[in-house]
Amino acid sequence: MDGLPPLPAGGLQTLVDSNPGQGTLAEYALLDRAIRSAAPCKLLVFGVGKDSAYWLAANADGQTVFVEHEPAWIAMTRELLPGVDVVQVSYDTRRTQWKALLERRDLLFMEDLPDRILAEDWDVIFVDSPQGGSRKRPGRMKSVYTASVLARRSTDVHVFVHDCDRPVEAAYSDRYFGPERLVEQVDGMRHYRLRPPLG
Ligand SMILES: C[S@@+](CC[C@H](N)C(=O)[O-])C[C@H]1O[C@@H](n2cnc3c(N)ncnc32)[C@H](O)[C@@H]1O
Repeated sequence: MDGLPPLPAGGLQTLVDSNPGQGTLAEYALLDRAIRSAAPCKLLVFGVGKDSAYWLAANADGQTVFVEHEPAWIAMTRELLPGVDVVQVSYDTRRTQWKALLERRDLLFMEDLPDRILAEDWDVIFVDSPQGGSRKRPGRMKSVYTASVLARRSTDVHVFVHDCDRPVEAAYSDRYFGPERLVEQVDGMRHYRLRPPLG
């Protein structure tokens, strides 16, 4: 992007106040700290939203790529943040499939990610998409699993998975990141670190 992205005045509390039902202040602060500590870094974010400008700003001069499936959210983000790098993907799951899919690595990998995402050595990955709040929503099975594959290909990566107070996010994170790699959990946000040697 050219120059600094627009950052709403008031910082993270303003984001929380303007974004009901999304991250808590403690969750956003955890992620913000990690990105700023690593910046300028390679940052991959599953899901755009009102938070996107904050992660771009936290990673100023770094490389930030968003992965998003909702055309309306992509359009809105591109309008608000000209030059933002958003890769469109699709999810073919329903949250109700989560137990059946848990061991189906063959079906869980997101095949529509471009090589520039698949081959990158990521520093920070944030998974907060697709929606998983009701049975009809896609659920985060594919994004959590795919993030774990990308994390294993990276040298030393911090992974944040939001909404781990829900069964699907918790189960997939336990299965594919493992409790031994959990650094901390703040509210529903889990922070994992993966670095060699990986088991
Ligand atoms: C949990 S939301 C992502 C929220 C974003 N990370 C944030 O903290 O604002 C998951 C998906 O819902 C859509 N979305 C983004 N922001 C939303 C919002 N404020 N309300 C409803 N849906 C949202 C997008 O398609 C996004 O990929």
